[in-house]
Amino acid sequence: MLIKELIILVNPKILSIMTALVLGIGTIVSSLSLIGFAAYLISMAALRPGFEQLYLAIVAVRFFGIAKAIFRYGERYVAHQATFEILTALRVWCYEKLEPLVPAKLKNYHSGKIFNIIVKDIEILKDFYLRIFAPIFIALSSIVVLGLFLSYYSLTLALLTVLFLLVLGCVVPILTHYYNKNNDDNLAVAQAGFNIKVLDIIAGLAEIKSFSLEQEQFEKLQQNISTIERIENKTEFAKLLLEAISSFWMGLLVMASLFWCGYLVNEQMITGVTMVVLVLVIQSSFEIIAGLPAVTYYWRDSYNAAIELWSLLKQQPEIEGQYGFRLQAGELVVENLSFAYDDDLILRNINFTVAEQQHLAIVGASGSGKTTLINLLLKFLHASSGKIMLSGIDYTLLSSTEILQKIAVVEQETHLFNDTLAANLLIAKTDATTAELLTVLKLAQLYDFVQSLPKGLETELGENGKVLSGGQRQRVALARALLKNAQIVILDEPTTGLDPENANAFMQVVQDVLKNKTVIIISHVLATLRSVDEIIVLKDGDIWERGTYAELSTKDGLFSAWLGLQT
Ligand SMILES: Nc1ncnc2c1ncn2[C@@H]1O[C@H](COP(=O)(O)OP(=O)(O)O)[C@@H](O)[C@H]1O
Ligand SMILES: [Mg+2]
Repeated sequence: MLIKELIILVNPKILSIMTALVLGIGTIVSSLSLIGFAAYLISMAALRPGFEQLYLAIVAVRFFGIAKAIFRYGERYVAHQATFEILTALRVWCYEKLEPLVPAKLKNYHSGKIFNIIVKDIEILKDFYLRIFAPIFIALSSIVVLGLFLSYYSLTLALLTVLFLLVLGCVVPILTHYYNKNNDDNLAVAQAGFNIKVLDIIAGLAEIKSFSLEQEQFEKLQQNISTIERIENKTEFAKLLLEAISSFWMGLLVMASLFWCGYLVNEQMITGVTMVVLVLVIQSSFEIIAGLPAVTYYWRDSYNAAIELWSLLKQQPEIEGQYGFRLQAGELVVENLSFAYDDDLILRNINFTVAEQQHLAIVGASGSGKTTLINLLLKFLHASSGKIMLSGIDYTLLSSTEILQKIAVVEQETHLFNDTLAANLLIAKTDATTAELLTVLKLAQLYDFVQSLPKGLETELGENGKVLSGGQRQRVALARALLKNAQIVILDEPTTGLDPENANAFMQVVQDVLKNKTVIIISHVLATLRSVDEIIVLKDGDIWERGTYAELSTKDGLFSAWLGLQT
């Protein structure tokens, strides 16, 4: 699945890739031709022939000497160009996949991990072509070309060479792969252990000194270092051993071809000069497979990166919305809604309707499922059973984009970007005019404050809006929500962290400016909920009680008990 998508992604670059492959094969062929013609020239010259007989070989040596460099340059150029284009395509593709998953599907991912996937894994995957596919393809094609060339002189010699190269080209990388896999894992563990030890020692320097533990700590560190050395030695040994095996194997091939060519010369099937050419070309053919062991490293990394990437992107894709602007938002209906995180049932059979321009409040202890309910209403989460409808249309038929066009949210913690106040508001409506910005600031009762700032709307808010107080931040969030001009506004504990006075003032503003909107408000400042149309009290995922403020405050229940605690 991922492979298929990656292939589709790379398809438009196919021309560059083919060009690079052809140039790569050209490089190797030129290199071997250079050796062949040089061998011909030298051995032929020893026979002191006329200049005409050497002329062609001289030109060929020059030609292939230069061609090799040009081919190599061209291949690198085109291949890197293609790789960077692939990287761009991968990044865009990954972003497009990720965007609909934000934030619900990504909530369970550590942000460091997402960052790693987007930056590191994609970076590794882009090399799939350059470091894995191309070397293998070029090696195989070059072996075929070499085989064809040799078979012109002797089929046996051709088969022998092809067989030797294929065996060496497969065996060495495979051995490298299996041997290093364990070793690299061990090395990673040992190095991590060493790092932890060093950090521990630095942190505890005072204790080490005061208890005279220097010698002991030094010896422990020494142990860590020798473990690392041992593993590195093993890796190095394996590398050298494989190099020795390769040399030995190529040596065998050269001896065998010398032997066979000698026989052919004896039978007068080839000349002595041809023998020199063939044997030297065969000896140099190791170049064809020299790059293959490195493929295994890249293969392992790419494989892991692909798995990581896929685990993130395979999340259920978003549906295409079809209702768009025909959707008459304004009314939300929740029917028998249940939701569970894994086996943990968070909401049970919730039912409520918020009609156009009605205000609904949800109250409940921390952990009772209020935010979960909001996430369901925003389609950041999907119901386990039951349904949600927006102006009569089931959520399963609506895309997140359609829903989020109709709903604005003010969250408990508002993220403000390290940018100007204007920029922070404009994220809700990119083409809003200054007049519009000032209007919503007025509504959110921030106008006077903004006027008092020397730079007004262009004031830099600093990292996460640190120049603002808590109350001001929430007002910016409210202004943002108003600017979005959605019919439904949801506020999730917007007064958390505000002092009671500020909290009351903020709630007053909210209820005034949102008079004509459909509102769902989660709040623990119960006294401010006098004017809402309905209050739902959530307890352990159930609707414990519901009614107007007047009804609930007189009834002997949870709400009136909490209210008693707050007054
Ligand atoms: N991503 C999550 N995975 C598993 N459990 C979660 C997750 N998010 C919240 N919960 C659990 O769901 C319950 C309700 O959480 P939440 O809706 O945030 O409560 P509230 O907003 O009412 O304080 C809590 O018990 C919480 O531990
Ligand atoms: Mg919450």
